[in-house]
Amino acid sequence: MSENLTAEQLPAPTPADLAIGIDIGGTGTKGGIVDLRTGDLVSPRFRIPTPKPATPEAVAAVVAEIVTELQSRELAPAPDSAIGVDFPAVVKNGMVFSAANVDESWINTDLEAVMSAALGGRKVYGINDADAAGLAEATYGQGRDKDGLIAVITLGTGIGSALINNGVLIPNTELGHLEIDGHNAESRASARAREVHELSWKKYGKRLRRYFEHVQMLFSPDLFVIGGGISKNPEKFMPYFEDDIRTPMVMATLRNNAGIVGAALWAAGHLEEREARTQA
Ligand code: BGC
Repeated sequence: MSENLTAEQLPAPTPADLAIGIDIGGTGTKGGIVDLRTGDLVSPRFRIPTPKPATPEAVAAVVAEIVTELQSRELAPAPDSAIGVDFPAVVKNGMVFSAANVDESWINTDLEAVMSAALGGRKVYGINDADAAGLAEATYGQGRDKDGLIAVITLGTGIGSALINNGVLIPNTELGHLEIDGHNAESRASARAREVHELSWKKYGKRLRRYFEHVQMLFSPDLFVIGGGISKNPEKFMPYFEDDIRTPMVMATLRNNAGIVGAALWAAGHLEEREARTQA
């Protein structure tokens, strides 16, 4: 990232400034070419509906289609550069170890190997979806230039979490599955839970307050960043948080592209935790 120049003042990006990030979601799989200096997409993203059933091979074929399209664009990264792929489950050293809201056949699948095979051997780095979104937000969005512990919580089909301490990600925290008042937290407080249980904003806001209060009690973060579609309407649930949440709370700014940007950043390899893994 360039510290002193604004995005407009930077020279045009070269392929070395760029990386492809792919965000695999329950309904759509999206990819984009990211300028790593700014966290911006250099061209429109490309989306294909996630196949049903979303088996590893079917999803890998869609990812390959997206990468082929992106790579054929005039402004693209080096064709042998690594690709970042995010996925809504535990992803450790490329292996998928959970399947809360995805096809069960993913459990114990080597995501990086499956994707790499579909991409003719191109290097792939896999990362949890919320970790990708959190990294992007901590690097280019709300957490930019902020020290301390940032907890990014994404509210969607599930609840995703990313903890970033002084710029370093602690991966796979899975705080959506905390047990609170005898329930799996995401079954009560995800954006989907609000819809499925037809909760009023007041009722949902109170459930969220309970959730954030609990995470705050466990981790005492310096900043909460709320991501997911719901972060567009903070006025709907924030009034119910009252004074229990002393941690400053802001809405994510990268919106729909956070996963793509974070995955690209992860693949580009400038991150301490990923470098440590590569050297291990
Ligand atoms: C999964 C997480 C994921 C989150 C958001 C949860 O159900 O367990 O891995 O990050 O949903 O997609």
